[in-house]
Amino acid sequence: MKRTIFITGGAGFIGSHVVRLFVNKYPDYHIVNIDELTYAGNLENLKDIEKTPNYTFEKANIIDTKEIQRLFEKYMPDGVIHLAAESHVDRSITNPTEFIHTNIVGTVNLLNAARSIWKDNFENKRFYHISTDEVYGSLDEEGFFTEETPYDPRSPYSASKASSDLLVRAYNHTFGLPVVISNCSNNYGPNQFPEKLIPLAINNIKNMKPIPIYGKGENVRDWLYVVDHANAIDLIFHKGRNGETYNIGGNNEWQNIKLIKKLCEVMDEKLNREPGTSASLITYVKDRAGHDLRYAIDSSKLMNELGWQPSLQFEEGIVKTVDWYLTNSEWLNNIVSGEYQKYYTEMYEK
Ligand code: NAD
Ligand code: DAU
Repeated sequence: MKRTIFITGGAGFIGSHVVRLFVNKYPDYHIVNIDELTYAGNLENLKDIEKTPNYTFEKANIIDTKEIQRLFEKYMPDGVIHLAAESHVDRSITNPTEFIHTNIVGTVNLLNAARSIWKDNFENKRFYHISTDEVYGSLDEEGFFTEETPYDPRSPYSASKASSDLLVRAYNHTFGLPVVISNCSNNYGPNQFPEKLIPLAINNIKNMKPIPIYGKGENVRDWLYVVDHANAIDLIFHKGRNGETYNIGGNNEWQNIKLIKKLCEVMDEKLNREPGTSASLITYVKDRAGHDLRYAIDSSKLMNELGWQPSLQFEEGIVKTVDWYLTNSEWLNNIVSGEYQKYYTEMYEK
């Protein structure tokens, strides 16, 4: 095989879409998915490709220095696409330390292991770190985050991601490690863990449970269909310039309350309910601590330099997403039947 690529966090939401894309599109790459299978990791997400000859799964914790070093020496990857992370802002408010371990220490372990096997021979090598727009902080009503926006993370999650971004840049500057970073806006689509707004709301609407909206529901997010993020990752991994950062966004801003009302309309239609039935479940709850008001991404660098465009309009993407969750009710039920119940009660019902 021509190349061996490590994808960390490949059993999670975005990671599973990236693994699928790479396994199918590049039969001459050996894709090794490294994932600890935390509450967010789910091998069901990869059922369709798990037997493909160019795919291998390794259960490993990126915090485990020795194990990570062993895997790098075993496979000698020439590329790393690093998605493994603690990814939910609310959990970072309840338990910040775990975010420091996985998102910062875990990233450094991967950087060190890559350095140790690549030594100073960096030809055709690349460490690609997947990050978030939240590192830039929060916007008022106007403006967009560009790659030049100063970092201003405001939650333990975004601070841990910002720290890891800076460490990746430092390894590029100090050791010459070939790196690239991308910072993406909110993703939505199939396989997202139902702690995040859209799948949580779909699950609650389906079960006629209250839809919790933090504060006044006025916060704004820029939503991108997950497959479009995976396509951007493919482009940046292969064509992005060494040491550069690329912003990725959907140019698709929604106030939370408007987004949920739109979702309610789609759900009423799909479930053959009277219009307004799902919206009657909307319930305003206590705001998230330190809740960032608005994120909005300027993706022009990625579009102009690498020719990326999102392929799906939100109107279409949200219908596809609802269809997926309604069709894959077993996937959803398996998740919400276990630990999730405990999390949900602690978070929303206490
Ligand atoms: P996710 O929570 O769905 O998945 C994370 C995956 O990482 C899971 O499979 C989990 O098992 C694995 N993981 C967690 N800790 C690990 C550890 N210590 N060792 C090995 N594996 C571990 O996350 P996601 O939403 O798919 O996000 C993936 C990446 O993309 C993250 O780095 C996140 O910061 C970034 N990102 C997410 C979004 C979004 O909207 N979801 C947007 C921009 C950037
Ligand atoms: O911007 C990229 C980030 O998007 C990623 O880096 C994170 O990994 C990802 O989790 C996401 O963060 P958000 O905090 O924006 O996503 P979340 O789905 O948790 O919340 C979206 C908005 O909805 C946010 O303003 C909070 C609000 N919300 C969320 C939940 C879970 C509610 O009003 N009620 C809820 O129950």
